[in-house]
Amino acid sequence: MPDRNASKSVFASRKSVFCFFTMTSILFVLSWFFVIRSAARPNFIDNNLLSTSESISVIDRNVESSIGNRAVLVDNEKEETTRETQTTHEKDDDGVKCSSSNKLGLKVFMYDLPPEFHFGLLDWKPEGKSVWPNIRTKIPHYPGGLNLQHSIEYWLTLDLLASEFTQARKAPSVIRVHNSSEADIIFVPFFSSLCYNRYSKMNPHERKSINKVLQDKLVKYVTAQEEWKRSGGKDHLVLAHHPNSMLDARTKLWPATFLLSDFGRYPPNIANVEKDVIAPYRHVIRSYVNDNSTFDSRPILLYFQGAIYRKDGGFARQELFYLLKDEKDVHFSFGSVLKGGVSKATEGMRSSKFCLNIAGDTPSSNRLFDAIASHCVPVIISDDIELPYEDVLDYSQFCIFVRTSDALKENYLINFMRSIGRDEWTRMWNKLKEIENFFEFQYPSKEGDAVQMIWQAVARKVPAMRLKLNRSRRYTRSLPSTSKEEGIKSIPAPGNFW
Ligand SMILES: *[C@@H]1O[C@H](CO)[C@@H](O)[C@H](O)[C@H]1NC(C)=O
Ligand SMILES: *[C@@H]1O[C@H](CO)[C@@H](O)[C@H](O)[C@H]1NC(C)=O
Ligand SMILES: *[C@@H]1O[C@H](CO)[C@@H](O)[C@H](O)[C@H]1NC(C)=O
Repeated sequence: MPDRNASKSVFASRKSVFCFFTMTSILFVLSWFFVIRSAARPNFIDNNLLSTSESISVIDRNVESSIGNRAVLVDNEKEETTRETQTTHEKDDDGVKCSSSNKLGLKVFMYDLPPEFHFGLLDWKPEGKSVWPNIRTKIPHYPGGLNLQHSIEYWLTLDLLASEFTQARKAPSVIRVHNSSEADIIFVPFFSSLCYNRYSKMNPHERKSINKVLQDKLVKYVTAQEEWKRSGGKDHLVLAHHPNSMLDARTKLWPATFLLSDFGRYPPNIANVEKDVIAPYRHVIRSYVNDNSTFDSRPILLYFQGAIYRKDGGFARQELFYLLKDEKDVHFSFGSVLKGGVSKATEGMRSSKFCLNIAGDTPSSNRLFDAIASHCVPVIISDDIELPYEDVLDYSQFCIFVRTSDALKENYLINFMRSIGRDEWTRMWNKLKEIENFFEFQYPSKEGDAVQMIWQAVARKVPAMRLKLNRSRRYTRSLPSTSKEEGIKSIPAPGNFW
């Protein structure tokens, strides 16, 4: 008997130790979760918490297979079968990883905003009643120059319009739908960067710039829509690529997902990696086709051309200039690429092994994308930079990252650059040629170009948007005033949740 009692109590104490252990583990995990959540900009959290698919090292494989990898969200282009058969096929294959609706492309509902918000800013005049140009007959022209850097709004909107008549061809990454209930996201087609660039100056007799007036109008329009009221904006996509665009509207439309170049001028509660999508600049330097250069045929070791910056993170530029100015194989000069002549910068970048990308008054700039287009290995000295599609792209395979504090140490940077030999450089140069297409904006968009990569990056945010939406509806049933709202019906059975 005593034995039995002893074993019983041993068992009981084991059980309680086990319980205690489990409890503490859970608490530990939970506390980590909250620590991570409360960090202002949790760069590393993105994949773990939000991505539906595993993070994919696109670069480990060749371009063909990387396109295949992206088929986590979009159908493989090789399979020219009908959509139905593809869906069933994929359900068998890896139905756990991705829902078949994602496979068929992101379903996007676009507000029919008046032309003054989009193509009207490009001086397009509507014919008849339609607010959209008939792009089958004529595509409104986007002027060249500096504005082109932020022209993402133009390419995405064109692609969405085109999706209506090209989707039959092959698996699209985006499909425009006209019933917002069927959409994954609601697209707000305001060309905010162009509006900022063209209309932020005030005319003498006006009290507000057109840029401000249009933002006010936009907020009024959007927040009055059924779609916005239904979700509080959580499933909306708003374009704000220029760091100064949407300065007024951002504080009112922040529940939406923004398409941004970086978070430099945003407080973390308005924009953050968890919610928003980083998109590339359009490069202003022409792509280097038939690049037959080699490590030895590029005489300049390190190239930098850019403005001197006066404020914020920009001080590093001046410091670096003094550290590097006596090195013979370093080109370091101040002045805008455009002022200095695009052709000169093109020649410079194509003749250089490495191209510096130093934080200016914002963490990002189009210089990185100019370097990629020139196959000049980017050296990134910008601690707060955010990079497009980084959840599926390992930049360390074709970029060099240097902490600002290291770069400002005497001889650190130059020694680092000189330590990278022909083989390592050539490997990175080859990767650049493999991935450059991810940063190419064009119409019509092509498989794996910037336009499609951005739609896919948005698609990867959709599950998190849905989660937020469903969570926000938890208590709606207890409010009689809102219980008639449509969302209530779609509350899933507890068993399906989590
Ligand atoms: C829109 O889609 C929803 C859900 O599929 C459907 O119930 C509704 O009838 C559709 N509305 C129109 C106008 O077709
Ligand atoms: C690359 O090709 C061009 C034109 O065909 C030629 O002039 C140049 O010398 C070549 N460069 C190298 C490094 O082979
Ligand atoms: C709520 O969650 C379900 C299950 O994930 C999803 O299908 C649904 O679309 C979500 N609701 C909304 C309104 O997004």
